[in-house]
Amino acid sequence: MIPNYYQFYCPVKILSGQKAMSNIPFEMELLGCKKAMVVTDKGVVDAGLIDIVKTAFADSDREIGYIFDEVPQDSSNRIVNKLAKLFVKEKCDCFIAVGGGSSMDTAKGANVVVSEGSDDLLKFQGVENIIKDLKPMIAIPTTAGTGSEVTKAAVVYNEEENVKMAFLSDKLYPDVAVIDPRMTLSLPPKMTAATGMDALTHAIEAYTCLQKNPIDDVFAKVAIDLIRRYLVRATSNGKDKEARIGMANAALLAGIAFSNSNVGMVHSLAHASGSVCHVPHGVANAILLPWVLEYNLDKIPEYIAGISGALGSSVEYLEPRDQAQVTISLVRNLLTRLNQVSGLPTRLSDAGVTEDDLPAIAQAAINDGAHTYNPKDLTYEVALETLKKAF
Ligand SMILES: NC(=O)c1ccc[n+]([C@@H]2O[C@H](COP(=O)([O-])OP(=O)(O)OC[C@H]3O[C@@H](n4cnc5c(N)ncnc54)[C@H](O)[C@@H]3O)[C@@H](O)[C@H]2O)c1
Ligand SMILES: [Fe+2]
Repeated sequence: MIPNYYQFYCPVKILSGQKAMSNIPFEMELLGCKKAMVVTDKGVVDAGLIDIVKTAFADSDREIGYIFDEVPQDSSNRIVNKLAKLFVKEKCDCFIAVGGGSSMDTAKGANVVVSEGSDDLLKFQGVENIIKDLKPMIAIPTTAGTGSEVTKAAVVYNEEENVKMAFLSDKLYPDVAVIDPRMTLSLPPKMTAATGMDALTHAIEAYTCLQKNPIDDVFAKVAIDLIRRYLVRATSNGKDKEARIGMANAALLAGIAFSNSNVGMVHSLAHASGSVCHVPHGVANAILLPWVLEYNLDKIPEYIAGISGALGSSVEYLEPRDQAQVTISLVRNLLTRLNQVSGLPTRLSDAGVTEDDLPAIAQAAINDGAHTYNPKDLTYEVALETLKKAF
């Protein structure tokens, strides 16, 4: 069904393949930039990935001004404000984020603070609260999950309030996304599985949420198809370059899809599990996805049924409700396979959550904006019941 109204926007230039990295200095030239602030974390540095970026700058008149490698997992407003000060002090003129969602979102956050001439990120929280144009940003993802390289979103942890804050603005799209299979080869199996399930959740929630539209549907379906083909392969054999570039493209396509249509209740529960119990984002999504699909099933059986083919179903002509059940079984099968090959938890109780934590997670979930476009309402009771099932 075509919605009465929808809009689609993705202004990001995408470079994919092993040659993509060498084009970074040229892209900087096109963007009118000379001196880059590289934003990353210690794990990415230890994996040798910054060396690949440095090599791209050899024989170039563009330079890396500073390498900021202090991004923690689930970056915070404090780190963002610190990075913004350094960017000004070092006289950089663009950001190059090299890492997963945490590094990319830290760069996005600092870019807001610098470009708005502010000293605090918190003021810009929410939807379209950024007024000034941002400095150029190049995003080089090293996980295949968040899709932040092509989204208008940044998620940053608020240390004082103990919540994850969302920033949504068309200004937050990076200028260039660089997808290179070498950048994810070192990602450990469990991290590969978890971030890949984050990408699958983006694609499935984009395809099934209230703001779905035919353009996002295409991106979401191709992403799901790539994840079916490559996620178990990339998790089982990290050095499989075909699987790695397949997953990097899947995460990017899923990012384009959800950045326009939105996500849903899985993400609210995952954000809440992250802020209350520090469950990694992809792990929480992986565990909760099938339970939320079951909850949504009676409202949108056709939509859930519509992705069974991309997930590998050879049966295609059942009643929508039954076909939707096939989709849910295939998601569960994928989760079981990933658990076998990487130890990815399949229950919240295996991911550091205790039964006593569930009410606090349920409360945080209903206060999280991601479920606004979920096909069915998320109440405290529904959140708690879903968490208990996934426990
Ligand atoms: N902006 C968005 O659109 C968006 C969407 C979804 C999630 N997020 C946010 O992104 C964050 C999660 O990002 P993430 O899942 O990509 O993980 P991450 O950036 O937090 O990284 C996780 C860990 O993996 C390590 N790592 C990353 N790449 C590696 C590699 N190639 N080899 C070895 N180690 C590597 C890092 O050092 C880090 O320790 C969360 O804060 C989440 O809320 C943002
Ligand atoms: Fe996500």
